Amino acid sequence: MDKLQMPANFLWGSASAAYQIEGAYQEDGKGLSNWDEFVKLPGKTYQNSTGEVAVDHYHRFKEDVALMAEMGLKTYRFSISWARLFPQGRGEVNQAGLAFYENLIAECLAYGIEPMVTLYHWDIPQALEEAYGGWESPQVIQDYLDYAHFLFQHFKDKVNYWITINEQNIFTTFGWMTALHPPGKLQQEKLFYQVNHHVFLAHAQAVIAFKEIMPNGKIGASFAYSPSYALDCDPKNAMSKLDFDDLKNFWWMDVYAYGRYPKSAYQHLAKKGVAPVVSEADSELLVKAASKIDFMGVNYYQTTVCEYNPLDGVASTGEMNTTGKKGTNQISGVPGIYKNPTNPYLKTTDWDWTIDPMGLRYACKEITSRYNLPIIISENGLGAFDELTADHHIHDDYRIDYLAQHIKELMIAVEEGSDIWAYCTWSFTDLLSWLNGYQKRYGFVYVDRSESGGSLDRYKKDSFYWYKEVIASNGQSI
Ligand code: NOJ
Repeated sequence: MDKLQMPANFLWGSASAAYQIEGAYQEDGKGLSNWDEFVKLPGKTYQNSTGEVAVDHYHRFKEDVALMAEMGLKTYRFSISWARLFPQGRGEVNQAGLAFYENLIAECLAYGIEPMVTLYHWDIPQALEEAYGGWESPQVIQDYLDYAHFLFQHFKDKVNYWITINEQNIFTTFGWMTALHPPGKLQQEKLFYQVNHHVFLAHAQAVIAFKEIMPNGKIGASFAYSPSYALDCDPKNAMSKLDFDDLKNFWWMDVYAYGRYPKSAYQHLAKKGVAPVVSEADSELLVKAASKIDFMGVNYYQTTVCEYNPLDGVASTGEMNTTGKKGTNQISGVPGIYKNPTNPYLKTTDWDWTIDPMGLRYACKEITSRYNLPIIISENGLGAFDELTADHHIHDDYRIDYLAQHIKELMIAVEEGSDIWAYCTWSFTDLLSWLNGYQKRYGFVYVDRSESGGSLDRYKKDSFYWYKEVIASNGQSI
């Protein structure tokens, strides 16, 4: 068999998010975001780390983009800070904030790196939180649309790839169910579904507006997809997998791709009195937007096992609890429906996330068959404790191994019929992990930065040189 490789023009990439990388949190007229406020509350993040300085990408973007160019990166996915552009969330644009993104995009284009822009990666302007409760109010839909519209108009000749919302399932679950992210609300199930509905409508409005401005541009959402496996062939466990998928995966992906919620999950939530209110106009809008998206964005990290959870089963403790230390990742269940035991076949990362390269292929095949959409892998990567040697090397062979195995599976997915446009590793430089500070590192480029500070100097890891080779050979070097 010929060596596997990616199609011509495949976008080998890497990704980041504004709050995790930029810093300069109050510079040049930037407004505060919900995260700027949340991290001030003691104990919310590992050693109370914040993104106030982050890895100072705001001042060092030229150095960072030059490193991307040296590596041969084809695309760089980054997010725009809504509050840097619109300090009040709406109204007058902040010209200095806009200039930062103009310069960043120009820098990428000068090196032939395709910019891929995420409109919303979890940082909503605090002004909108205070004005009407942010995503809790339907008012946010118009403000998000205005923000998106401005960017589409402004960058329509420069940016082809756009992601409306990053990991809607995660930021809403952590924000309104497990209280780990702002606004820090616990088990507000009805609100959680209503908030999600507002996010879907905002996404849909943006997609429709986009296609009027850039009919040939590409747009979609990035979903944190954790494919599920039934524990075994016990029908109860198989049923729990089906219910898990409806409630935890298809609840989001079906809306992006079809414009409707999975029927049996909706019925279940309606009986509980927590289903969102969906008007006829909402449905029309969602279906129209679904017919216009260009790809499904997938952030892939791990898979989940599903087992029937008897009603008198052990109470759940919250989902994907990543509060900073090794071994604190717990995945919950729903009594009467499912619970999520560990997978005995898989190893885990230092943060207890399962390592399942084949799960990435599974994700692609599922999306291809269910939605028949092209796919952008908008994130995949390994969070680990890296060590900087005295002579400034980082021997991250474990990361190389992780990425190689995942890319191999991706290439098989292509062979098996998936139309995959891009693969963005998380992340290019090391950056802030929302709850885990700076100790959990994902990058190809090590940043000398700890919770208490550091020189912010950049050092290339072994994986940097390895990925460079992967890109140059279009995957054949693996
Ligand atoms: C998904 C999120 O989009 C990103 O912001 C985060 O840091 C990574 N996963 C790793 O947890």
